[in-house]
Amino acid sequence: MISFLLNNEPIHISNIDNNCTVLEWLREDKKLSGSKEGCGSGDCGACTVVLAEINKSDDGLNYKAINSCITFMSALDGKQLLTVEHLEEQSQLHPVQQAMVDKHGSQCGFCTPGFVMSMFALYKDRSKGSNDDLNRDNIEHALSGNLCRCTGYRPIIDATLQACDQPAPDKFSKTESDVVQSLKALPDNQGVDGLHLPKSRTELAALINKYPDARLVAGSTDLALEVTQMYKILPQLISTRYVPELNSLTIDNKHLVIGAAVTYSQLQDTLLNEYPELNELLTRLGSLPIRNQGTLGGNVANASPIGDMPPVLLALDATLTLDDGEQSRSLPVQDFFLDYKKTALRSGEWLRDIRIPAKVNASFLSAYKISKRIEDDISAVCAVFNLQVENGVVSNLRTGFGGVAAIPSRCAALETAITGETWNRETMLKGKAILANAFNPIDDVRATAQYRKDMLVNLWQRFWLESQNHNHTELRVLQHA
Ligand SMILES: Cc1cc2nc3c(=O)[nH]c(=O)nc-3n(C[C@H](O)[C@H](O)[C@H](O)COP(=O)(O)OP(=O)(O)OC[C@H]3O[C@@H](n4cnc5c(N)ncnc54)[C@H](O)[C@@H]3O)c2cc1C
Ligand code: FES
Ligand code: FES
Repeated sequence: MISFLLNNEPIHISNIDNNCTVLEWLREDKKLSGSKEGCGSGDCGACTVVLAEINKSDDGLNYKAINSCITFMSALDGKQLLTVEHLEEQSQLHPVQQAMVDKHGSQCGFCTPGFVMSMFALYKDRSKGSNDDLNRDNIEHALSGNLCRCTGYRPIIDATLQACDQPAPDKFSKTESDVVQSLKALPDNQGVDGLHLPKSRTELAALINKYPDARLVAGSTDLALEVTQMYKILPQLISTRYVPELNSLTIDNKHLVIGAAVTYSQLQDTLLNEYPELNELLTRLGSLPIRNQGTLGGNVANASPIGDMPPVLLALDATLTLDDGEQSRSLPVQDFFLDYKKTALRSGEWLRDIRIPAKVNASFLSAYKISKRIEDDISAVCAVFNLQVENGVVSNLRTGFGGVAAIPSRCAALETAITGETWNRETMLKGKAILANAFNPIDDVRATAQYRKDMLVNLWQRFWLESQNHNHTELRVLQHA
C-alpha cells in the first residue's frame, strides 16, 4: 500500500501502474486538472505541486515544490500532497492567487497553476520565520523551475513580492498540527506490486535479489524521463527514500558523509558551510523543484558525462560506499565511472553514501558551469579545480571535468605537470597547452567539440586569474611577487 494525504483526505493505494506519475494520477484518476502538463520532463513547471512533510526538529511541516510530471507515486508515501485546487478557502483566493490577479500575472494561464504553487511553497517557507527581506534574487530562485511564455516575468515577480514578503497565517497554518497528526497516523507501508518501499538495507537487498531487473529510484528526476520521454516501461521500481543509511547526513572531523538518497535541498546548507565556493554551481543545478527531489546519489549513479556533481567529487577526492546488504566497500569516485553510463556497481550492489573530505586549509577551489541558460539547464562544460599552494609552489592540484569525455574525468596530465611548479603565469600557460589537447569532446546540441575545448582552456586561465585575487596569504604573496 501507499498512503498519503491529498489535501486533508487520506488516500490508500493498493494497486497502481508503477510507471504512473503523480501528474497522471491527479489528472486522470482524481480529475484534478489544475496541474498542467507542459513538457513532461521537469523543464517548464506547469505541473508544479507541493509536498508537505513532517519536520522532525519542530514537529511542524516543511513545504516543497516539486515537478509532478517526473515524480512516481512512491514519493507520496507519508506526505501531504497539495495542488492548486486546494489553496482557496471558502471561495476566497489564497494570498498568492490574489496577488497574481492584482498584479496581472496571468494571460493564457497555462503556466499559472505552476507559478502559484511555487509561490505558495515560498509563502509557507517564509511564514516559517524567515526575516530576510524578500528580494528579486530570492524570488527568481523560488521560481527557477517555472517558465511563462506570454505574461512576462515582471508582473509575476511583483505578485510574488506582494504575497510573500510578509506572509500572514493562512488556512494551512490553522490546520498544521492536525495534518501532522494525520500524517503520523498513516500506516507504515511496503509499497504496491511493482513499486517497493524498503525500510532497511536487508529489505533493500532482498528486493534487489528477488527482482534483478528492478530499477532503484531516489528523486526520479533522471529515471522518470525514461518513461515520459523515451516511453520505456520500467518493470519494478525500488525506492531508496525510506532506507535510513541512504538518508542520513553526518559530519565527522574528516568527512561529510552524504547518504545517496539525500536531496540537494537537504544537503545544501551542510555542503556550502564546508565549501561555500560551490554555491553558484549548486544553485544552478536544475531548478528548486529539481533540487527538492533530486539526490547526489542519483547524480553519481546515473553516471552521465554531463552531471554537475561528479566533477566536484573528483576534484574533492570523494569516496563512495557501495553496499549489497551484507558487505560494503569503499571506492574512490574516480574508479566508479568505467565507460559511458557504466559504473563499478556489481550486481546486487547499490550506492550507499558519498564521503567528501573536509576542507584542507589553504586550498583554492572553483567550480565552473557553462550552459546556455543560467537556471535549469544541463552543462555543456563543467570544470572544477582544487588547488593547494605552499610557499608559492603548487603542492596539490585535483581536477574534475564534465561534458568533455564519455565519463566524468580528471586530467592527470595537468595535475602532474602543475604539481611542484611555482604558481605563476608560466605555469598557467603550461596548463593551457596541456588542456588544449587533453580531451576529445563531441559536437552536440549543447556545444561544438571546439567550443568545449576552448572553454576548458579559458576556464583554467580564469581560475588562475581569480586565484590572484584570492584572499589567501600564499597566493597574495605571489600576486605581489
Ligand atoms: C529539468 C531537469 C534539470 C536538470 N538539471 C541538472 C543539472 O543542472 N545538473 C545535473 O547534474 N543534473 C541535472 N538534472 C539531472 C538530475 O536531476 C540529477 O542527475 C539528479 O541528481 C538525479 O537524482 P535523482 O535522485 O532524481 O535520481 P533518480 O532519477 O532517482 O536515479 C537516477 C539513476 O540512478 C540510479 N540510482 C539512484 N539511486 C541509486 C543508488 N542509491 N544506488 C544505485 N543506483 C541508484 C537509478 O536507478 C537511476 O538509474 C536535471 C534533470 C531535470 C529533469
Ligand atoms: S510538465 Fe513541464 S515540468 Fe512538468
Ligand atoms: S500566462 Fe501564458 S504561459 Fe504564462
